[in-house]
Amino acid sequence: MAEQADSLRRWVHAKADDVASEVLAGRLKGPHVLAITSGKGGVGKSNLALNLAIALQIRGVATAVLDADLGLANINIILGQEPDYTVFDVMQGDRHLADVVVSGPHGLRIIPGASGLAAAAAASLDQVAMLLAEFQSLESQVEWLVVDTGAGIAPAVLAFVAAADEALVVTTPEPTALADAYGLIRAVDETESPVRLHLVVNRAGDVSRGQRTGERLAGLVAKALNRSVAVAGVLMEDAAVARAVVRQEPFYLGAPKSPARADVDRLADYLLDRVPAPRRGGIAGFVRRVLASVPLGRGDTVPPDGSPKNQEPGVPMANAPPSTVPAYVGKAGASIPGRRETEEGPR
Ligand SMILES: Nc1ncnc2c1ncn2[C@@H]1O[C@H](COP(=O)(O)OP(=O)(O)O)[C@@H](O)[C@H]1O
Ligand SMILES: [Mg+2]
Repeated sequence: MAEQADSLRRWVHAKADDVASEVLAGRLKGPHVLAITSGKGGVGKSNLALNLAIALQIRGVATAVLDADLGLANINIILGQEPDYTVFDVMQGDRHLADVVVSGPHGLRIIPGASGLAAAAAASLDQVAMLLAEFQSLESQVEWLVVDTGAGIAPAVLAFVAAADEALVVTTPEPTALADAYGLIRAVDETESPVRLHLVVNRAGDVSRGQRTGERLAGLVAKALNRSVAVAGVLMEDAAVARAVVRQEPFYLGAPKSPARADVDRLADYLLDRVPAPRRGGIAGFVRRVLASVPLGRGDTVPPDGSPKNQEPGVPMANAPPSTVPAYVGKAGASIPGRRETEEGPR
Protein backbone atom coordinates (compact mmCIF):
# COMPACT_ATOMS: atom_id res chain seq x y z
CA MET A 1 0.00 0.00 0.00
CA ALA A 2 2.74 2.42 1.04
CA GLU A 3 4.70 1.32 -2.00
CA GLN A 4 1.73 2.08 -4.21
CA ALA A 5 1.34 5.55 -2.70
CA ASP A 6 5.04 6.13 -3.30
CA SER A 7 4.89 5.26 -6.94
CA LEU A 8 1.79 7.43 -7.37
CA ARG A 9 3.67 10.27 -5.75
CA ARG A 10 6.60 9.83 -8.12
CA TRP A 11 4.20 9.65 -11.03
CA VAL A 12 2.48 12.94 -10.08
CA HIS A 13 5.84 14.68 -9.68
CA ALA A 14 7.05 13.43 -13.04
CA LYS A 15 3.77 14.42 -14.65
CA ALA A 16 3.90 17.93 -13.24
CA ASP A 17 7.46 18.38 -14.52
CA ASP A 18 6.53 17.01 -17.93
CA VAL A 19 3.61 19.39 -18.32
CA ALA A 20 5.68 22.37 -17.18
CA SER A 21 8.52 21.70 -19.59
CA GLU A 22 6.22 20.88 -22.49
CA VAL A 23 4.33 24.12 -21.98
CA LEU A 24 7.57 26.10 -21.79
CA ALA A 25 8.79 24.50 -24.96
CA GLY A 26 5.47 25.41 -26.60
CA ARG A 27 5.05 21.83 -27.72
CA LEU A 28 1.97 20.85 -25.79
CA LYS A 29 -1.10 22.43 -27.27
CA GLY A 30 -3.88 20.36 -25.82
CA PRO A 31 -7.56 21.21 -25.74
CA HIS A 32 -8.82 24.71 -25.00
CA VAL A 33 -10.18 25.08 -21.49
CA LEU A 34 -12.94 27.71 -21.41
CA ALA A 35 -14.43 28.71 -18.04
CA ILE A 36 -17.89 30.29 -17.95
CA THR A 37 -18.14 32.40 -14.84
CA SER A 38 -19.83 35.44 -13.29
CA GLY A 39 -19.72 37.71 -10.29
CA LYS A 40 -23.45 37.60 -9.63
CA GLY A 41 -25.45 34.37 -9.66
CA GLY A 42 -28.37 33.61 -11.94
CA VAL A 43 -27.07 35.60 -14.92
CA GLY A 44 -27.21 32.66 -17.34
CA LYS A 45 -23.88 30.82 -17.01
CA SER A 46 -25.17 27.26 -17.08
CA ASN A 47 -27.47 27.87 -20.02
CA LEU A 48 -24.68 29.57 -21.90
CA ALA A 49 -22.16 26.83 -21.07
CA LEU A 50 -24.40 24.04 -22.28
CA ASN A 51 -25.79 25.73 -25.38
CA LEU A 52 -22.40 27.10 -26.42
CA ALA A 53 -20.91 23.63 -26.00
CA ILE A 54 -23.63 22.23 -28.25
CA ALA A 55 -22.88 24.93 -30.83
CA LEU A 56 -19.18 24.02 -30.78
CA GLN A 57 -19.95 20.31 -31.02
CA ILE A 58 -22.27 20.90 -34.00
CA ARG A 59 -19.44 22.79 -35.70
CA GLY A 60 -17.47 19.57 -35.61
CA VAL A 61 -15.37 20.55 -32.60
CA ALA A 62 -15.27 17.71 -30.07
CA THR A 63 -16.42 19.34 -26.84
CA ALA A 64 -16.95 18.37 -23.21
CA VAL A 65 -18.77 20.29 -20.47
CA LEU A 66 -17.56 20.03 -16.89
CA ASP A 67 -20.16 21.08 -14.35
CA ALA A 68 -18.01 22.72 -11.73
CA ASP A 69 -20.64 24.81 -9.95
CA LEU A 70 -19.97 23.41 -6.49
CA GLY A 71 -23.20 22.84 -4.68
CA LEU A 72 -25.41 24.12 -7.48
CA ALA A 73 -24.57 21.73 -10.27
CA ASN A 74 -27.39 22.00 -12.77
CA ILE A 75 -26.22 21.31 -16.30
CA ASN A 76 -28.02 17.99 -16.02
CA ILE A 77 -31.23 19.63 -14.92
CA ILE A 78 -31.21 21.88 -17.97
CA LEU A 79 -30.64 18.75 -20.05
CA GLY A 80 -33.19 16.66 -18.18
CA GLN A 81 -30.62 14.01 -17.29
CA GLU A 82 -30.05 12.26 -14.01
CA PRO A 83 -26.45 11.15 -13.84
CA ASP A 84 -25.52 8.11 -11.78
CA TYR A 85 -22.03 9.34 -10.99
CA THR A 86 -20.10 12.58 -10.78
CA VAL A 87 -16.51 13.68 -11.04
CA PHE A 88 -16.33 13.20 -7.28
CA ASP A 89 -16.62 9.44 -7.77
CA VAL A 90 -13.54 9.64 -9.99
CA MET A 91 -11.58 11.49 -7.32
CA GLN A 92 -12.47 8.85 -4.81
CA GLY A 93 -11.23 6.20 -7.16
CA ASP A 94 -14.64 4.55 -7.32
CA ARG A 95 -15.22 5.16 -11.02
CA HIS A 96 -13.27 5.83 -14.15
CA LEU A 97 -13.97 9.09 -15.93
CA ALA A 98 -15.33 7.07 -18.84
CA ASP A 99 -18.06 5.71 -16.53
CA VAL A 100 -18.97 9.19 -15.34
CA VAL A 101 -19.08 11.04 -18.66
CA VAL A 102 -22.64 11.21 -19.96
CA SER A 103 -23.34 11.50 -23.64
CA GLY A 104 -25.31 14.63 -24.52
CA PRO A 105 -26.82 16.00 -27.74
CA HIS A 106 -24.78 15.37 -30.91
CA GLY A 107 -22.22 13.39 -28.93
CA LEU A 108 -21.36 16.28 -26.60
CA ARG A 109 -19.65 14.91 -23.49
CA ILE A 110 -21.04 15.98 -20.12
CA ILE A 111 -19.06 15.53 -16.92
CA PRO A 112 -21.59 15.88 -14.09
CA GLY A 113 -20.58 17.81 -11.01
CA ALA A 114 -21.63 17.35 -7.43
CA SER A 115 -21.69 19.36 -4.26
CA GLY A 116 -19.21 16.79 -3.02
CA LEU A 117 -16.64 18.30 -5.33
CA ALA A 118 -16.03 20.82 -2.56
CA ALA A 119 -14.35 17.88 -0.87
CA ALA A 120 -11.54 18.45 -3.35
CA ALA A 121 -10.30 20.63 -0.52
CA ALA A 122 -9.51 17.41 1.31
CA ALA A 123 -8.11 15.60 -1.72
CA SER A 124 -5.20 13.32 -1.07
CA LEU A 125 -2.29 12.97 -3.40
CA ASP A 126 -3.65 9.64 -4.53
CA GLN A 127 -6.89 11.32 -5.53
CA VAL A 128 -5.00 14.01 -7.40
CA ALA A 129 -3.10 11.36 -9.30
CA MET A 130 -6.31 9.52 -10.02
CA LEU A 131 -8.04 12.56 -11.46
CA LEU A 132 -5.01 13.58 -13.51
CA ALA A 133 -4.66 10.15 -15.00
CA GLU A 134 -8.35 9.98 -15.79
CA PHE A 135 -8.54 13.42 -17.40
CA GLN A 136 -5.56 12.52 -19.52
CA SER A 137 -7.81 10.06 -21.34
CA LEU A 138 -10.06 12.95 -22.34
CA GLU A 139 -7.13 14.90 -23.72
CA SER A 140 -6.97 13.08 -27.02
CA GLN A 141 -10.74 12.99 -27.49
CA VAL A 142 -11.74 16.57 -26.82
CA GLU A 143 -10.80 19.90 -28.42
CA TRP A 144 -12.68 22.23 -26.07
CA LEU A 145 -13.49 21.71 -22.40
CA VAL A 146 -16.21 24.14 -21.29
CA VAL A 147 -16.29 24.58 -17.51
CA ASP A 148 -19.45 25.92 -15.86
CA THR A 149 -18.22 27.48 -12.61
CA GLY A 150 -20.11 28.86 -9.66
CA ALA A 151 -20.69 32.59 -9.26
CA GLY A 152 -18.67 34.92 -7.10
CA ILE A 153 -15.13 35.23 -5.89
CA ALA A 154 -14.82 32.28 -3.53
CA PRO A 155 -11.40 30.66 -3.98
CA ALA A 156 -12.99 27.45 -5.26
CA VAL A 157 -14.50 29.44 -8.14
CA LEU A 158 -11.38 31.49 -8.78
CA ALA A 159 -9.36 28.28 -8.94
CA PHE A 160 -11.28 27.11 -12.00
CA VAL A 161 -11.16 30.50 -13.69
CA ALA A 162 -7.47 31.08 -13.04
CA ALA A 163 -6.59 27.61 -14.27
CA ALA A 164 -8.46 27.98 -17.59
CA ASP A 165 -7.03 29.23 -20.88
CA GLU A 166 -10.01 31.51 -21.49
CA ALA A 167 -12.88 32.70 -19.37
CA LEU A 168 -16.19 34.23 -20.38
CA VAL A 169 -17.35 36.57 -17.63
CA VAL A 170 -21.13 36.66 -17.94
CA THR A 171 -23.11 39.67 -16.77
CA THR A 172 -26.51 41.18 -17.41
CA PRO A 173 -26.97 44.92 -18.01
CA GLU A 174 -28.12 45.34 -14.38
CA PRO A 175 -25.85 47.59 -12.32
CA THR A 176 -25.50 44.93 -9.62
CA ALA A 177 -24.39 42.27 -12.10
CA LEU A 178 -21.95 44.71 -13.72
CA ALA A 179 -20.48 45.69 -10.35
CA ASP A 180 -20.07 42.02 -9.43
CA ALA A 181 -18.50 41.23 -12.81
CA TYR A 182 -15.97 43.96 -12.15
CA GLY A 183 -15.32 42.56 -8.67
CA LEU A 184 -14.75 39.11 -10.12
CA ILE A 185 -12.36 40.41 -12.77
CA ARG A 186 -10.40 42.26 -10.11
CA ALA A 187 -10.18 39.07 -8.02
CA VAL A 188 -9.01 37.06 -11.04
CA ASP A 189 -6.46 39.78 -11.76
CA GLU A 190 -5.08 39.40 -8.24
CA THR A 191 -4.34 35.73 -8.87
CA GLU A 192 -1.93 36.87 -11.63
CA SER A 193 -3.23 34.07 -13.79
CA PRO A 194 -2.58 34.45 -17.53
CA VAL A 195 -6.19 33.43 -18.27
CA ARG A 196 -7.64 35.53 -21.11
CA LEU A 197 -10.87 37.20 -20.05
CA HIS A 198 -13.82 38.01 -22.31
CA LEU A 199 -17.14 39.64 -21.42
CA VAL A 200 -20.57 38.37 -22.37
CA VAL A 201 -23.59 40.58 -21.78
CA ASN A 202 -26.66 38.37 -21.38
CA ARG A 203 -30.33 39.34 -21.32
CA ALA A 204 -29.73 42.54 -23.25
CA GLY A 205 -32.80 44.47 -24.42
CA ASP A 206 -30.99 45.34 -27.62
CA VAL A 207 -27.72 44.26 -29.10
CA SER A 208 -26.01 47.60 -29.61
CA ARG A 209 -26.95 48.81 -26.14
CA GLY A 210 -25.68 45.52 -24.70
CA GLN A 211 -22.44 45.95 -26.62
CA ARG A 212 -22.00 49.49 -25.27
CA THR A 213 -22.66 48.27 -21.73
CA GLY A 214 -19.96 45.64 -22.15
CA GLU A 215 -17.54 48.16 -23.61
CA ARG A 216 -18.08 50.52 -20.70
CA LEU A 217 -17.18 47.74 -18.28
CA ALA A 218 -14.18 46.80 -20.41
CA GLY A 219 -13.09 50.45 -20.33
CA LEU A 220 -13.31 50.53 -16.56
CA VAL A 221 -11.26 47.31 -16.31
CA ALA A 222 -8.63 48.71 -18.68
CA LYS A 223 -8.38 51.92 -16.70
CA ALA A 224 -8.48 50.55 -13.18
CA LEU A 225 -6.67 47.24 -13.66
CA ASN A 226 -4.65 47.86 -16.80
CA ARG A 227 -6.03 44.65 -18.22
CA SER A 228 -7.72 44.23 -21.56
CA VAL A 229 -11.03 42.42 -21.68
CA ALA A 230 -12.81 41.95 -24.99
CA VAL A 231 -16.59 41.92 -25.36
CA ALA A 232 -17.03 38.49 -26.90
CA GLY A 233 -20.76 38.65 -27.37
CA VAL A 234 -24.19 39.92 -26.44
CA LEU A 235 -27.17 37.64 -25.86
CA MET A 236 -30.66 39.03 -26.15
CA GLU A 237 -33.31 38.70 -23.48
CA ASP A 238 -35.29 35.85 -24.98
CA ALA A 239 -38.32 34.08 -23.52
CA ALA A 240 -37.22 30.92 -25.37
CA VAL A 241 -34.44 30.48 -22.78
CA ALA A 242 -36.76 30.23 -19.78
CA ARG A 243 -39.20 28.07 -21.74
CA ALA A 244 -36.40 25.68 -22.67
CA VAL A 245 -35.30 25.41 -19.04
CA VAL A 246 -38.83 24.45 -18.01
CA ARG A 247 -38.97 21.85 -20.80
CA GLN A 248 -35.47 20.64 -19.88
CA GLU A 249 -34.36 20.89 -23.47
CA PRO A 250 -31.47 23.23 -24.43
CA PHE A 251 -32.83 26.26 -26.32
CA TYR A 252 -30.17 25.78 -28.99
CA LEU A 253 -31.97 22.61 -30.06
CA GLY A 254 -35.53 23.22 -28.86
CA ALA A 255 -35.81 26.74 -30.29
CA PRO A 256 -33.64 26.75 -33.40
CA LYS A 257 -35.05 30.06 -34.65
CA SER A 258 -34.67 31.87 -31.35
CA PRO A 259 -32.58 35.04 -31.08
CA ALA A 260 -30.69 33.34 -28.22
CA ARG A 261 -29.49 30.59 -30.56
CA ALA A 262 -28.35 33.11 -33.16
CA ASP A 263 -26.41 34.94 -30.44
CA VAL A 264 -24.79 31.71 -29.23
CA ASP A 265 -23.84 30.88 -32.83
CA ARG A 266 -22.12 34.24 -33.16
CA LEU A 267 -20.29 33.67 -29.90
CA ALA A 268 -19.14 30.18 -30.97
CA ASP A 269 -17.81 31.61 -34.25
CA TYR A 270 -16.06 34.40 -32.36
CA LEU A 271 -14.32 31.89 -30.11
CA LEU A 272 -13.26 29.61 -32.96
CA ASP A 273 -12.03 32.56 -35.06
CA ARG A 274 -10.35 34.66 -32.42
CA VAL A 275 -9.06 32.41 -29.74
CA PRO A 276 -5.47 31.30 -30.27
CA ALA A 277 -4.28 27.81 -29.46
CA PRO A 278 -3.86 27.20 -25.75
CA ARG A 279 -0.36 27.03 -24.35
CA ARG A 280 -1.14 25.94 -20.85
CA GLY A 281 -0.94 22.19 -21.03
CA GLY A 282 -4.46 21.26 -22.09
CA ILE A 283 -6.81 19.50 -19.74
CA ALA A 284 -4.06 17.83 -17.73
CA GLY A 285 -2.48 21.22 -17.07
CA PHE A 286 -5.86 22.65 -16.13
CA VAL A 287 -6.71 19.88 -13.67
CA ARG A 288 -3.27 20.10 -12.13
CA ARG A 289 -3.58 23.86 -11.61
CA VAL A 290 -7.02 23.53 -10.02
CA LEU A 291 -5.85 20.82 -7.68
CA ALA A 292 -2.62 22.62 -6.88
CA SER A 293 -4.74 25.44 -5.48
CA VAL A 294 -6.59 23.31 -2.96
CA PRO A 295 -4.87 21.92 0.11
CA LEU A 296 -4.27 18.22 0.11
CA GLY A 297 -5.51 16.10 2.97
CA ARG A 298 -4.02 13.29 5.02
CA GLY A 299 -0.72 15.08 5.54
CA ASP A 300 0.53 14.20 2.08
CA THR A 301 3.03 16.41 0.39
CA VAL A 302 1.89 18.35 -2.63
CA PRO A 303 3.29 18.17 -6.14
CA PRO A 304 6.51 20.17 -6.52
CA ASP A 305 5.01 23.19 -8.18
CA GLY A 306 1.70 24.18 -6.79
CA SER A 307 2.06 24.07 -3.07
CA PRO A 308 -0.73 25.91 -1.31
CA LYS A 309 1.71 26.78 1.44
CA ASN A 310 -0.25 29.60 2.93
CA GLN A 311 -3.24 27.43 3.69
CA GLU A 312 -3.86 25.06 6.52
CA PRO A 313 -4.56 21.59 5.18
CA GLY A 314 -8.25 20.85 5.25
CA VAL A 315 -9.40 24.43 5.66
CA PRO A 316 -12.35 24.88 3.32
CA MET A 317 -11.38 27.09 0.40
CA ALA A 318 -14.55 29.11 0.63
CA ASN A 319 -13.44 30.71 3.88
CA ALA A 320 -10.32 32.34 2.55
CA PRO A 321 -10.52 35.90 1.27
CA PRO A 322 -9.40 36.28 -2.34
CA SER A 323 -6.28 38.18 -1.41
CA THR A 324 -4.86 35.04 0.22
CA VAL A 325 -5.50 32.93 -2.85
CA PRO A 326 -2.32 30.97 -3.47
CA ALA A 327 -0.37 30.86 -6.70
CA TYR A 328 -2.92 28.80 -8.60
CA VAL A 329 -1.08 28.77 -11.79
CA GLY A 330 1.75 26.66 -10.52
CA LYS A 331 4.99 26.59 -12.45
CA ALA A 332 3.56 25.95 -15.86
CA GLY A 333 1.49 29.11 -16.05
CA ALA A 334 3.61 31.34 -13.89
CA SER A 335 6.80 30.73 -15.78
CA ILE A 336 5.50 31.42 -19.27
CA PRO A 337 7.55 34.43 -20.29
CA GLY A 338 5.68 37.60 -21.13
CA ARG A 339 2.54 36.70 -19.24
CA ARG A 340 0.81 39.99 -19.95
CA GLU A 341 1.57 39.76 -23.63
CA THR A 342 -0.34 36.51 -23.87
CA GLU A 343 -3.58 38.34 -23.16
CA GLU A 344 -5.79 39.05 -26.08
CA GLY A 345 -7.14 42.54 -26.26
CA PRO A 346 -10.25 43.44 -28.21
CA ARG A 347 -9.32 42.99 -31.85
N1 LIG B 1 -30.96 35.30 -22.52
C1 LIG B 1 -31.91 35.03 -21.61
N2 LIG B 1 -33.18 35.46 -21.81
C2 LIG B 1 -34.14 35.21 -20.88
N3 LIG B 1 -33.92 34.55 -19.74
C3 LIG B 1 -32.70 34.10 -19.48
C4 LIG B 1 -31.62 34.30 -20.39
N4 LIG B 1 -30.50 33.74 -19.86
C5 LIG B 1 -30.88 33.22 -18.67
N5 LIG B 1 -32.20 33.43 -18.44
C6 LIG B 1 -32.96 33.02 -17.25
O1 LIG B 1 -32.11 32.99 -16.13
C7 LIG B 1 -32.22 31.74 -15.45
C8 LIG B 1 -30.90 31.38 -14.81
O2 LIG B 1 -29.98 30.97 -15.81
P1 LIG B 1 -28.75 30.00 -15.44
O3 LIG B 1 -28.11 29.65 -16.73
O4 LIG B 1 -29.19 28.88 -14.57
O5 LIG B 1 -27.85 31.03 -14.62
P2 LIG B 1 -26.55 30.76 -13.70
O6 LIG B 1 -25.96 29.47 -14.15
O7 LIG B 1 -25.68 31.94 -13.96
O8 LIG B 1 -27.03 30.71 -12.29
C9 LIG B 1 -32.69 30.78 -16.51
O9 LIG B 1 -33.39 29.70 -15.95
C10 LIG B 1 -33.58 31.62 -17.38
O10 LIG B 1 -34.88 31.66 -16.85
MG1 LIG C 1 -25.53 27.72 -12.98
